[in-house]
Amino acid sequence: MAGTDKRLIIVSNRLPVVIHRSDVGDWEIRPGAGGLVTAMAPVLRDRGGLWIGWPGTVTEDDVDLDPLLRSATRDSGYELSPVVLTMEQKLNYYRGFANEIIWPLFHDLQSRCRFEPAYYYTYRAVNHLFAEKIVHHAGPDDFVWIHDYHLMSVAMELRAMRQANRLAFFLHIPFPPLDIFLKLPWRYQVLRDLLAHDLLGFQTQRDRRNFVQCVRALIKDARVGSKGLRTTVHLEGRDIHAGVFPIGIDFDQFARDAASQEVSEEAWYLHEHEPDRKIYLGVDRLDYTKGIPEKLRAFRDALRRFPQLHERIVLFQLVVPSRWEIPEYADLKTEIERLVGKINGEFSRAGWAPVQYFFRSLERRELLALYRTAEVLLTTPWKDGMNLVAKEYCACNVDESGVVILSEFAGALAQMHRSSLQVNPHDIEGMAEAIFQAYAMTLEERRERMRRLRQSIRRQNVFWWVDSFLEAAIERRLDSFPHVEEYVPRPDLP
Ligand code: ADP
Ligand code: G6P
Repeated sequence: MAGTDKRLIIVSNRLPVVIHRSDVGDWEIRPGAGGLVTAMAPVLRDRGGLWIGWPGTVTEDDVDLDPLLRSATRDSGYELSPVVLTMEQKLNYYRGFANEIIWPLFHDLQSRCRFEPAYYYTYRAVNHLFAEKIVHHAGPDDFVWIHDYHLMSVAMELRAMRQANRLAFFLHIPFPPLDIFLKLPWRYQVLRDLLAHDLLGFQTQRDRRNFVQCVRALIKDARVGSKGLRTTVHLEGRDIHAGVFPIGIDFDQFARDAASQEVSEEAWYLHEHEPDRKIYLGVDRLDYTKGIPEKLRAFRDALRRFPQLHERIVLFQLVVPSRWEIPEYADLKTEIERLVGKINGEFSRAGWAPVQYFFRSLERRELLALYRTAEVLLTTPWKDGMNLVAKEYCACNVDESGVVILSEFAGALAQMHRSSLQVNPHDIEGMAEAIFQAYAMTLEERRERMRRLRQSIRRQNVFWWVDSFLEAAIERRLDSFPHVEEYVPRPDLP
């Protein structure tokens, strides 16, 4: 395995666990949600190391974190080191700069950005705090791997502190095209900060190409050269490499757990309540990038246009609570609930409600049972770095007969486009047709497609991802950048 002698230090805004106050006022620990945590936890379990991140509490909470974090990592094989923020830092850095500027901007939604200068200054201050934490822990041979858009300036802070470790960064979300990135008031600074790393990893070719285009346009003294799928930027006497490393999942673990007796029983029980019906499944964090209202409208359109679907299909839409304090997220919840009510009001009959809606964080067993038993996965984000839900569904589809309907703008499509049904998440009628197509598809075709999907997701799993990244970063094997296809939509009919 690549770079096994080096200690791995993972740095991300979130630790794999969140500490929060329970309904009765006690401090509790629960697993974090989101693709970053799901992907990185098995990597650290496998290799050991240290994970630096924010546990979700603020200084003002005055909570004793040590016993809680110790209990969370007792059998995990790695250590956690918390960075605690003040309330002001949480608001301006996490909620403000990360989630009200970079998150919408990098998902092409500049009109949702609040370019508040105070956000940026706190972002820098918190990135400095993370850098200090790294300096405190890192030995000269440790490999420091920084993750995601919350921490784009940590490496520059480390360089200013004369920290000499090799530094690598992986962006879990998309990188926007030049004309959108240009809107960022701190565009030069953020790009230069990213270029303080030695290796930059992106999810798709689209993201790497956008980044390279921004560097070419905005960093005057950078010399940029591309060879195959790798780009090298020469700047101030250093070489910075940028490549595409599509993140994977711990496929075997998901498949094993989905096949367990406990999950099988739960799956059977879920389907028993929907006899002779196909279950369509949606699993999304509450987020406007996930396209949940459009998905519901498409489901309604399918029921209107294809009456043969009545009583024959049901949509289980699971929405995982997320970024709750941001008003837009709360508004989205209201919109989703209103739509679910309208659809059920229009079509329900005795014994059949077309949409079953869950707004809560399910136990892993329940989530896996849903993945295992659902006949169709419907995942239609406007834009998504990868979308691990699509890969997890395939891993758990141990009967190999499910269908994946996937957005053209999810990073996962690059690896899954040959065997899924692709949709434009803004095309309500097109999505409705895909919903019908999935319903009508023969068992033979479903099996053929699902087998191919499972093969490629098993091969390009999270350990393949981490090995190819570490080979490129630590062993400097620049020939080991994986070959990743690019998805290009079908041309217009002649
Ligand atoms: P994002 O990272 O934007 O949330 P992804 O689809 O890449 O989107 O990842 C979502 C992750 O959240 C998946 O790994 C999924 O298993 C996980 N997840 C889904 N439901 C829950 C839940 N109830 N609790 C914790 N994690 C969940
Ligand atoms: C996405 C981001 C992660 C983030 C997760 C959950 O997956 O890429 O960095 O942790 O969403 O969001 P939250 O704001 O709760 O950390």
